[in-house]
Amino acid sequence: MQANPDLYFRQLLVGPMANFIYLIGSRKAGECMVVDPAWDTDALIETAGRDGMKITGALVTHYHPDHCGGSIFGFTVPGGVAELIGKVDAPIHVNKLEADGLKKITGVSESDLVRHESGDRVEIGDVSIELLHTPGHTPGSQCFMVNERLVAGDTLFVGGCGRVDLPGADPEQMYHSMMRLADLPDRVELYPGHDYGPSKSAKMGEQKMSNAYLRRRTLEQWRSMMGR
Ligand SMILES: [Fe+2]
Repeated sequence: MQANPDLYFRQLLVGPMANFIYLIGSRKAGECMVVDPAWDTDALIETAGRDGMKITGALVTHYHPDHCGGSIFGFTVPGGVAELIGKVDAPIHVNKLEADGLKKITGVSESDLVRHESGDRVEIGDVSIELLHTPGHTPGSQCFMVNERLVAGDTLFVGGCGRVDLPGADPEQMYHSMMRLADLPDRVELYPGHDYGPSKSAKMGEQKMSNAYLRRRTLEQWRSMMGR
């Protein structure tokens, strides 16, 4: 992985659904963003604080409550973006296509959000986080790339990929997102949104060999593999 002495990067395993939350920031600035701040807001703020870091923003991979809090289909998750912004001053960075869904599910307002296009960057100190739109699991799912680390939410898991059978999912979009991620260099380290695989992170080079969803194939082959 690319060396950046200013990078603060921490993976936290939380909640009954084995969600991974990430703290990404600048040691020099003493500030970090939290990726998918669901489940336990106080614990997150305390964890960052123990490392000498202040949370100054939230990065949302997608609007499912186990990642951003709130309710969907009678399923409610504590913590999340709404609770976070009640406790710290933190704009919520979301893909523009996910913003309306995020507001509906979590109750946050438009003024709490920063809507992003694919390719946008969020900078903290000497750390630059690139936002990549990877639809399929949801319309505005996004991944974050920082110093050859891919924080992938529910788009890509170690040994798997996100569900495409839930409302808002699109198997064809997921195919294109997988093929795009398969173009990333082998040395990139994948950091998924759940601890579903044999390891908590993995090299993309290894995943391209072992993760069937990343293998090069046609859309027709993908459709038959996904049963869609
Ligand atoms: Fe999800």
